[in-house]
Amino acid sequence: MQALLDQIDKNRLPRHIAIIMDGNGRWAKEKGEDRLFGHFHGVESVRNIVEGCAELGIEYLTLYAFSTENWDRPEYEVIGLMELLVGTIRKEVESLDKNNIRLHVIGDMNMLPEYARKELEEALEMTSKNTGLNLIMALSYSGRWELLHAVKNIAYEVKKGRLSIDNINQDTLQNYLTTSKFPDPELMIRTSGEYRISNFLLYQLAYAELYFTPVRWPDFRKDNLYEALIDYQHRERRFGKTSEQL
Ligand code: IPE
Ligand code: IPE
Ligand code: MG
Repeated sequence: MQALLDQIDKNRLPRHIAIIMDGNGRWAKEKGEDRLFGHFHGVESVRNIVEGCAELGIEYLTLYAFSTENWDRPEYEVIGLMELLVGTIRKEVESLDKNNIRLHVIGDMNMLPEYARKELEEALEMTSKNTGLNLIMALSYSGRWELLHAVKNIAYEVKKGRLSIDNINQDTLQNYLTTSKFPDPELMIRTSGEYRISNFLLYQLAYAELYFTPVRWPDFRKDNLYEALIDYQHRERRFGKTSEQL
């Protein structure tokens, strides 16, 4: 593990890492267990990766925990996930605070049950003064939901006469996204061997480096994160230019 860590250039770390934490259900099934068992074990990976990012000095970590489409899963799984979420936040908020980690949430909070929303709001408030790692939980989130939400709000401002169409540019759009306060992720990791975005940060991932690993989320640990970072640092990010121009 130390050897992997030594291979990382600390001066060329991404500021923002985004992760699609996938594979909990299959991990559990492979062990002959219920899907919720996988979600339960996924929390240990969250703890480990948050700690790993904080140790490295990563500024922003976005974790895709629940998509707007995930509401269509069987009711027992949805309820189980909500309870796990609330229980985890309750248990972890003090440790987040002690480690100077600031919690943020992006997503359609109106969809969350009242008790979950309350727990989250308290955790957001409690960590709001922290200046270390920004931990952004994408909860009841989808890229299409976010873009629709932004377009509606922009249209409303135009209708009220507070914004003119001629003045709408990419910065305006950026300002209406739920991620307006965060830089775009430079690195997006998806676990469990699926090669897709699944409605995550559609706008913000425009130039992200994508990293896919077959490792299921409950097995993902700091050394897997280091491997992703080493891979990332071997890439050339051209942003449409040629190699020679960089
Ligand atoms: C990711 O694991 C967690 C959530 C989507 C909430 P899954 O539950 O999608 O696990 P798989 O992909 O079915 O194995
Ligand atoms: C994406 O995983 C959402 C989260 C990890 C929270 P899914 O398991 O829901 O995505 P699909 O259905 O495989 O595309
Ligand atoms: Mg999945």
